[in-house]
Formats: sequence, C-alpha cells, structure tokens
Amino acid sequence: MQVPVLGGGTRTYVDLDTAATSPASAAVARAVADFLPRYSSVHRGAGARSQYASARYEGARDTLLGFVGADPATHVALFPRNTTEALNVLAFRLGLTRDDVVLTTAVEHHANLLPWRRHARLRVVDVDAAGTFGPEDVIAALDQRPVPRVLTLTGASNVTGWLPDLGRIATAARERGVLVVVDAAQLAGHRPIDITALGIDVLALSGHKMGAPYGAGALVGPRDLFSSGEPLLVGGGAVRAVSFDDVVWADGPDRDEAGSPNVLGVVALAAAAEELGPEVWPALLGHERALTAALDAELATVPGLRRLGPGTVDRLPVAAFTLAGVPHALVAARLSHEHAIGVRSGCFCAHPYMSRLLSLTEDEVRRFHRDAGAGRVDLPGAVRASANRGTSTADVAALGTALRAIAGTPEDADRYRLDEHGQYVPAAPSLTVVRG
Ligand SMILES: Cc1ncc(COP(=O)(O)O)c(C=O)c1O
Repeated sequence: MQVPVLGGGTRTYVDLDTAATSPASAAVARAVADFLPRYSSVHRGAGARSQYASARYEGARDTLLGFVGADPATHVALFPRNTTEALNVLAFRLGLTRDDVVLTTAVEHHANLLPWRRHARLRVVDVDAAGTFGPEDVIAALDQRPVPRVLTLTGASNVTGWLPDLGRIATAARERGVLVVVDAAQLAGHRPIDITALGIDVLALSGHKMGAPYGAGALVGPRDLFSSGEPLLVGGGAVRAVSFDDVVWADGPDRDEAGSPNVLGVVALAAAAEELGPEVWPALLGHERALTAALDAELATVPGLRRLGPGTVDRLPVAAFTLAGVPHALVAARLSHEHAIGVRSGCFCAHPYMSRLLSLTEDEVRRFHRDAGAGRVDLPGAVRASANRGTSTADVAALGTALRAIAGTPEDADRYRLDEHGQYVPAAPSLTVVRG
C-alpha cells in the first residue's frame, strides 16, 4: 500500500503494528471468498446451504482444538468474538465468589485482569526491573493461603514480547489443583501451542492477531465446564425450551453461544489455524528469531532510545521503547507521517505493566489516573514496534533509519500539533489520502 508522506510523494507502508492486528493472510482471504457465496444460517435450517454452513462451523471447533493441542474427548472450542470476550465468559462461568482468589501477573493485558477482578480477589505476581518473573515467583504465590482457584497468565506479553515459562508454571499450578488459564492472544500467531503437553486447562485467543480478520476468537476449555450452569449471554440458540418462568439450557457448546454466530469469521479463524500447521513452524520460528535480532540491533543504534523489558532474543518480535525528549505519540506520528511506518504508542492496554516498565512512582500513577479522569491526553507511555511472519528484515531496517532521523531532528516536532485524542497530527492538513 502506498501512503502519502509529509513533504510530498508517497512511500510503501511498513506495518510494524502487527501485535495489535495482523492483516488477513492470502489463504484466509481465499477461504472467505470461497465460503461467502455459500454462507447461510447455522443450526436452524434443513436446507443444503444451512447444512453446509453448520458443518463448516462445527468442523472449525475440531480445527481449533487441534491447533492448540486439546483433546476433543475432554475439551471443546467456543467461538466468542475475541480474547476479551472469551475471558469475560470464562470468569463468569467459573462461578467465582469474593472469597475466591485468582492468581495473575503484573504483565497482563487488561483483558486478563478486569474480568477476573469483577468476580474474585486478585493476587498478583509482580515483575522485576526487566519486566519479567520466574516460575519460582509464581510457585511462591501459589503456595500462599488461601490457595487460588485459578491461575491466569499471558502466553506472551503484548508490550515486550516476553514469554513466561508456561510449562513449568502450569505444572506447578496443576500439582496444587489450580485451574490454569492462558491468554494466548499474542502467543497463538507466533508459537505452536500444545495445551495437553503444557498442562493448560483453558486457553483464549483472537483470530485478528493470527492472520484472520476481526470478529472471531476461541475459548478452548474442558467440556464439563460449559455443560452445566447459566451462560453469560442468554437468548436464542442457547436453550432447549423457554416459558415465562422456566428455561432448559442447551448442551455445551451451544449453551454459551446465544444469538446468531459469526460463521464467516469462524471459517476465517479456522483457515488461519490450518495455515499455521506443524510444517510451517520451523521456518516461521527461524524468521521471527531473525526479525527479533534485527529489531534489537537497529534499536541499539538510535541515540537516546531506551528499551523497556528484557533484552532476550527468545521472545516475540516486539519491542517497546522511549526516545529521550520526544513524546511517545510524537515518535509514532513522525514514523507514520514522514516514513510511512505504522507502530503503536501509549500503554498498550497494560497499564500496571507499563507503570512498572516506566518506573512510575505511586504518585505518578495517581497523577496518571487523575489526568486520565480529567480527560488529559498527554499521558505516560512508550512506542511499540511489532513484527510477524509478513515482516521482512528490510522493514525493520527502515524503522532503524527512521528512528535515527527522528532522533537527529527534534526541531521537526514543530511541524505537528497534539489533537484532542492524544495523537500528533501534521500542523498542515491534507495527508489523509491512502492509495491502494
Ligand atoms: C496479550 C493480550 N491479551 C488480550 C488481548 C485482547 O485481545 P482482543 O482485543 O482481541 O480481545 C490483547 C490485545 O492486544 C493482547 O495483546
């Protein structure tokens, strides 16, 4: 895609914001184009199209189970919209009370904090100065009283790309009878997952972070968890019989899928999962290692750049950083408007983690909340560059070149103004045309 840049002309867009959303792959686009003309309602029609759509929808459950290494005899895949919805459904379905403790970590995305906090008490494993913790820290928290009912943690950080040692952590939790939940929103598109081998009970993921478009995610968990009790969302499709004072719920997984499902999205999600089969991983992992090393090497050459998080190469190709004297949102704006590079800036829906990575004091956190409450938009944050299988090392090199140029021309900040959304926009208008 060609995008206009400040000063005239266009440049080829470089997408280094894939941790937010990764574009649909060619295989997914083909699967959607193939299914679209035949798409119909599921579960309710006797006609051939409805039967076909139903078969594709139900078949996608098996695909997703296979994708994460779940046993179809014991596990089921539900299709919420995304990881956020998946974790909200799960936190509700576990029937937690205020007496229950959910063990989580300071690394988490808000999607893996807020749903739990609504139902139970949180116990949080904190991070060190590098933004990491060890399995022993989790074990110590597991051994505190009361014993947590649930351990929920991310498979990979969306801020730093850091990968906790899921296998050791899950084993320790299971030995103590604690349900293990993994937020695989970031992990799923970057690493093969085998929940059976790792000892994970429940896993949530989002299609739009692994090569499918928005609107379909997966919640994979034990069948019996979803075969009794009330669902979070209630309505048609989730029931067998309804009167004004009684309801007979459907069996799982229908019970948790009230309303017309996103069949097209689920077909796309299944295509994305199929594309990430065992045969692609060796080359993909090699490519991602090269991207991570290139990212680290480029960022190390930028004057005034401070990296956040661990420097380890064994992480996702993601890096968060600040640039001395340049607000994070201005760095992102200059990368976009002058170099056609897309990155993210802010706190990445992981405020507690970012507070720690930025070494904010308690007073500074309080001010952050006060300012946010008062509608201020120039809040603390950082820049995040993230890459995936569609990224080339030339894209990463372009980032390095652009950041060095930005660091060397702080006076060009005058060409921008801060808008009411907290984004820096060119002081001169008319840069919004996008050419296909
Ligand atoms: C680690 C992590 N968890 C959860 C989410 C939430 O994903 P979604 O917005 O698809 O629900 C994200 C999104 O950035 C994420 O990175």
